[in-house]
Amino acid sequence: MCGIVAYIGPKQAQPLLLEGLKRLEYRGYDSAGLAVLHDQTIRTVRSTGRINLLEQKLAEHGDLTGTLGIGHTRWATHGSPTEANAHPHADHHQRIALVHNGIIENYAALRTYLQDKGCVFRSDTDTEVLAQLIGHVRADAGCDLFTAVQGALREVTGAYAIAVIAHDEPETLIVARKGSPILIGVADGAYFAASDAAAILSHTSQVVTLDDYHVAKLTRNGKGPEMRTATVDNVPVNPTIIELEMTLDEIELGGHDHFMFKEIVEQPHALTNALRGRLDKRTGQVVLGGLSEFSRELVNTRRFILTGQGTAWHAGLIGEYLLEDMAKIPAETEYAAEFRYRNPIIEKDTALIAVSQSGETADTLAALHEAKDRGALSLGVVNSVGSSIARDTDAGVYLHVGPEIGVASTKAFLGQVAVLTLIALYIGRRRYLSAEQILQYIEELERIPEHVQSIIEQSDRIRDEVAKVIDEDNWLFLGRGYNYPVALEGALKLKEISYIHAEGMPAAEMKHGPIALVTDGMPVVFVAPQGSQYDKVVNNIEEIRARGGRIIVVATEDDHDIDRYADTVLRVPHVPEPLQPLVTVVPLQLLAYHAAVLRGHDVDKPRNLAKSVTVE
Ligand code: M6R
Repeated sequence: MCGIVAYIGPKQAQPLLLEGLKRLEYRGYDSAGLAVLHDQTIRTVRSTGRINLLEQKLAEHGDLTGTLGIGHTRWATHGSPTEANAHPHADHHQRIALVHNGIIENYAALRTYLQDKGCVFRSDTDTEVLAQLIGHVRADAGCDLFTAVQGALREVTGAYAIAVIAHDEPETLIVARKGSPILIGVADGAYFAASDAAAILSHTSQVVTLDDYHVAKLTRNGKGPEMRTATVDNVPVNPTIIELEMTLDEIELGGHDHFMFKEIVEQPHALTNALRGRLDKRTGQVVLGGLSEFSRELVNTRRFILTGQGTAWHAGLIGEYLLEDMAKIPAETEYAAEFRYRNPIIEKDTALIAVSQSGETADTLAALHEAKDRGALSLGVVNSVGSSIARDTDAGVYLHVGPEIGVASTKAFLGQVAVLTLIALYIGRRRYLSAEQILQYIEELERIPEHVQSIIEQSDRIRDEVAKVIDEDNWLFLGRGYNYPVALEGALKLKEISYIHAEGMPAAEMKHGPIALVTDGMPVVFVAPQGSQYDKVVNNIEEIRARGGRIIVVATEDDHDIDRYADTVLRVPHVPEPLQPLVTVVPLQLLAYHAAVLRGHDVDKPRNLAKSVTVE
């Protein structure tokens, strides 16, 4: 989704803004732009396409001189990805410039109002409406930029993270948020603002996060930089500086060709971090400090609702099986976007678990608010520390897998499944599971990182197997029980980065229609480790083989019977059934990665996709 970077300080802004925008490229975008203030003039350069095209344009126009500036990468929502629609946008008199993430919902009414006042619009965007409104309020009231931004924001509905500058306030950068993330980086003698810490981490790890409806005025004067924060209604708030947990190494490629592959390879380490300090062998307990305050409510919960989107929804589905299996509490998984609008029934003693890597997915955040408003206890299973979902839930458990840059989620999925397993064990121990049972799971969980490592070592072989079917345009992914969500995840991974059409479904569902698609040589991936439904999956394999499908099986390492039925076997270590997704998904991640590379696609910048979907 869109990205924001802004700077006020002693250095030239343009190189810092470009560096920040490049670090946000992974989020997905289709145009970019900068505005820099110098000598009471705001100069703006925008371009469609990649940042290198913006750089070419800057080289042609001459660099933007100035030490105060704002930058943006846009992922089109209102208006096509043209240069006119790219940010920054200006007001009617070109006195202010603004970059914006989010959606202004009442933009149509505001646009009509402003046009009646004589404002001429130059784009089709909702963002320009906000720029024009701030300019109009400022001119009308004769106030400063901070007051004008507050006044304008009181009139808008929707979501925003913004950075704004004015031509005649060369010492001021205004930043505000509601529903879209933005943080302020505090550096030596300077301030940065960014929608994502990755944009500024090379300059500072000290940040201030803004809450909804907060506006910050960042100024510099002879005494050094100053920050003033207040609500849109001008109630002062005290900013708190926090230290970011992430390091620069974690957001750089470190010798790998792609972030996705780097993050697949990092999974053993990421899992170790997700489990660290949470497994107590001595007492046979799972330790989750984030839940301790609510342990009684959790034990007495009568129904869990797990929610998320995409990969997080797949992890949620595994969580549903785990909670019913281990804690014996009814659970269901819902797409957040469906849940929030379908007038859901929330009875007493219901808990909602919002699963999200970014913690900023708009629909998941809204589903969480909906459930809270209806009286549910809300929990977060989130990676991004301090994100909106993490802050708005009653309690939660962080993944601690480190920042995920690859658009195709890999290590976050493993982290989500691992944490949901811990939550199910945590509650299960307080209900039906004995200390011995927990101890067995703890020992098995501790071995998972090395199992994942052994699968990663098969990467080259998986690439060679994928190469044999790389021209096939339609794939099926099938699994049962715990491996049905893994089949969904395998199909999603393949389609989002290789653009190969893939469907995931429960293996039994295939006979109810999709088997009609199977033709000679069509790759059909079965996630079929040994377990309670193994024989049933083997029957399904036979049915596909009889119709000419090319059988690829993810199987347990010592299962040699399967060789008779399969064209390709991808082997995983033996683990207890509830833990199987933690290993069976890994070959599918590698399969999707190699398919995309073999097809010549840019794995980290998949077509049309954004890393974090912050609009509904
Ligand atoms: O940040 P979140 O986990 O809330 O994101 C949810 C989905 O948008 C995300 O998992 C998406 O499906 C990924 N592209 C999958 O690889």
